Amino acid sequence: MNSSPNSDQPGVRVQARGLRKSFHGQEVLKGIDFEVQPGEIFVLMGPSGSGKSVLLKHVIGLEEPDAGEILLNGKPILSAEVMEEYRLAMVFQSGALLNSLTVGENVGLYLAEHQLKPPREIARIVAEKLEVVGLKGQEDKLPSELSGGMKKRVAIARALVIEPQLILYDEPTSELDPLSAVIIGQEILQLQERAHVTSLVVTHDRDLAFGVADRIAFINDGQILTIGSPDELKRNKDPLIQKFLTADFKPH
Ligand SMILES: Nc1ncnc2c1ncn2[C@@H]1O[C@H](COP(=O)(O)OP(=O)(O)O)[C@@H](O)[C@H]1O
Ligand SMILES: [Mg+2]
Repeated sequence: MNSSPNSDQPGVRVQARGLRKSFHGQEVLKGIDFEVQPGEIFVLMGPSGSGKSVLLKHVIGLEEPDAGEILLNGKPILSAEVMEEYRLAMVFQSGALLNSLTVGENVGLYLAEHQLKPPREIARIVAEKLEVVGLKGQEDKLPSELSGGMKKRVAIARALVIEPQLILYDEPTSELDPLSAVIIGQEILQLQERAHVTSLVVTHDRDLAFGVADRIAFINDGQILTIGSPDELKRNKDPLIQKFLTADFKPH
């Protein structure tokens, strides 16, 4: 899509530095710092309302911080240079598919709208990306004909058409049955192995987090409590983290 030197690097380094954000006087991000290595799968886990989605929107430049910054390979995300230079993709929580378009049209929409490729080439790319997510030949289906898990996979295929260097997933397993959730986790792992993309996964799904993460940041109330490997997180003594990791329906 562009030929600058950075566009050939598979994964980008992401740094969040002192990120703060308030909405209507309510502080939602209270000073967030982390660094994601190129090619790493970094999970942001924490309870609902802790600021995960807001944080992800800052990483892709959809929200502007009140203070602090996001850097991609050392450059501010909000600079025009970075926006042009790097290929970033976000898989939204809802999937955000257009119901009036077919699966194939949804996946190829970006390329078609920006007239980046001729129709035949778009069809080839769409077929290739659908195959990657296990939906070979499903181009002509409508979103309404798909299960929740299939819709999420279409959303991932759509993210893949730009050959992203950074993929952001917002709650990729929400509303999915356990088996579909496992398949999504496998997709995330395979994409990382195949394309060495940097992956940032926001989730409150413990199984997904521990299944895919190189490292996990635990976020609560707009602050990161700890960052570590899945094993380090399991050994963390913070009562809130332990409660979150062990909560179930069984009486203790
Ligand atoms: N655009 C917005 N305007 C006002 N408040 C917002 C906005 N986006 C998020 N919030 C608030 O920020 C807090 C964190 O939201 P969010 O990041 O969506 O949490 P989660 O960790 O569940 O993804 C919530 O209290 C939410 O209501
Ligand atoms: Mg959210």
